[in-house]
Amino acid sequence: MNCSSKMRNSLHSQWKTLISKYSWCAGGSMFLYLRQIQTIAVPFFFSEVAHTLHRVMATAGQVIKCKAAIAWEPNKPMVIEEIEVAPPQAHEIRIKIVATGVCHTDLYHLFEGNNKEGFPAVLGHEGAGIVESVGPGVTKFKPGDKVIPLFISQCGQCKFCKSPKTNLCERSWSNERYDVMSDIDSRFTCRGKKVLQFMGTSTFSEYTVLNEIAVAKIHDSAPLDKVCLLGCGIPTGYGAAVNTAKVEPGSTCAVFGLGAVGLAAVMGCKAAGAARIIAVDVNKDKFEKAKVFGATDFVNPKEHSKPISQVLAEMTNGGVDFSLECVGNVEVMRSALESCVKGWGVSVLVGWTDMHDFSARPIQLIAGRTWKGTLFGGFKSKDGVPKLVNEYLARKLKLDEFVTHTMTLDRVNDAVELMKHGKCIRTVLNVSRQ
Ligand SMILES: NC(=O)c1ccc[n+]([C@@H]2O[C@H](COP(=O)([O-])OP(=O)(O)OC[C@H]3O[C@@H](n4cnc5c(N)ncnc54)[C@H](O)[C@@H]3O)[C@@H](O)[C@H]2O)c1
Ligand SMILES: [Zn+2]
Ligand SMILES: [Zn+2]
Repeated sequence: MNCSSKMRNSLHSQWKTLISKYSWCAGGSMFLYLRQIQTIAVPFFFSEVAHTLHRVMATAGQVIKCKAAIAWEPNKPMVIEEIEVAPPQAHEIRIKIVATGVCHTDLYHLFEGNNKEGFPAVLGHEGAGIVESVGPGVTKFKPGDKVIPLFISQCGQCKFCKSPKTNLCERSWSNERYDVMSDIDSRFTCRGKKVLQFMGTSTFSEYTVLNEIAVAKIHDSAPLDKVCLLGCGIPTGYGAAVNTAKVEPGSTCAVFGLGAVGLAAVMGCKAAGAARIIAVDVNKDKFEKAKVFGATDFVNPKEHSKPISQVLAEMTNGGVDFSLECVGNVEVMRSALESCVKGWGVSVLVGWTDMHDFSARPIQLIAGRTWKGTLFGGFKSKDGVPKLVNEYLARKLKLDEFVTHTMTLDRVNDAVELMKHGKCIRTVLNVSRQ
């Protein structure tokens, strides 16, 4: 039995004695009761903190050997391997990943993107963890802090960070090799080979290293197995509605694709006061969940012979005010644009693809529609993520409802299969023990 569990057992038995001793009297004895609690609880608290710090700091400055899921090549299952994770360099942070979601963008890289240069890589970009150690020059993070890795950085200094118009950052990993979808300056090796850090994050690993500009410090009480979803899918869909589309109260919206991103877009439309939210998906099993987030109408394109834009135009007297494409399919993107009402309709591209050009007739835009795109829902990452965590803790933002499956990292390929076949919303993988 280790020292902290002995302490915990001793606290428990002393607590029971106290309860039985003083339960008959609530008044004068309460003072004595509180003093006794204090003498036990305060040293216990410090011993827990010291124990945690000792544990995390024992590895500081050293290469850590740990478990990670490696995508060696496209279209093949990932393999659980032992990897080496180098210590953080100047302005970097090494993080113990506790939990991670699986997002469709991970599947895109593995199966759809057709990009051989982006391998081998550790995928995963929707995680949460605890700071293990920090490199020279890091002053705003310390071992033990709870954090969320960010696939969009926020340096605070570049012209994009200084502008309120965008959440892109000039110092992001993506400025170097966007085409390989990875940070090429990786801290990972496996079997003597360099392994890339997908989207600069790589959360399918027990440990990862990020620049401090791409890490958000979050509230100490945040449950990491839920708030990990704030690393990608939920801010993306939610922000697409509230920040990018700027959905208006009383408006009519259509959301195409009801994965976690689309459901978060539904949640965003509802939060912005939309009167009607039409949920569109080819998988009818998704509709029940869409109701939970506020969808009012449900359309399955498989059940209609007409173009879906025509179906929506008939349902809404000419088209919706806002549409959000959360699939990643250029045909659906066109259809989402064409579903908007002329004059003021706004359509937002949220789904990810770099495989095909998209197209539409110019008259669509000439007639007053606007076509926009969003990355991470337009949230400035370092500022936005801790606020969203606080909103979740205050029960103003749903997260638990997105989690349909929980597994360990070893089952990452099962999680991928579930998403491929439309059987989950989000699977959360438990990566390391907290
Ligand atoms: N822009 C960003 O910053 C960003 C961030 C995260 C994810 N994404 C992208 O968002 C998309 C959704 O991600 P997810 O994790 O929710 O994926 P998901 O696979 O869980 O959900 C996609 C949904 O689209 C539905 N769908 C497929 N074809 C359709 C069609 N023709 N019409 C209507 N619905 C259809 C599927 O049934 C499924 O429910 C992906 O393309 C992902 O890469 C973008
Ligand atoms: Zn994602
Ligand atoms: Zn910047």
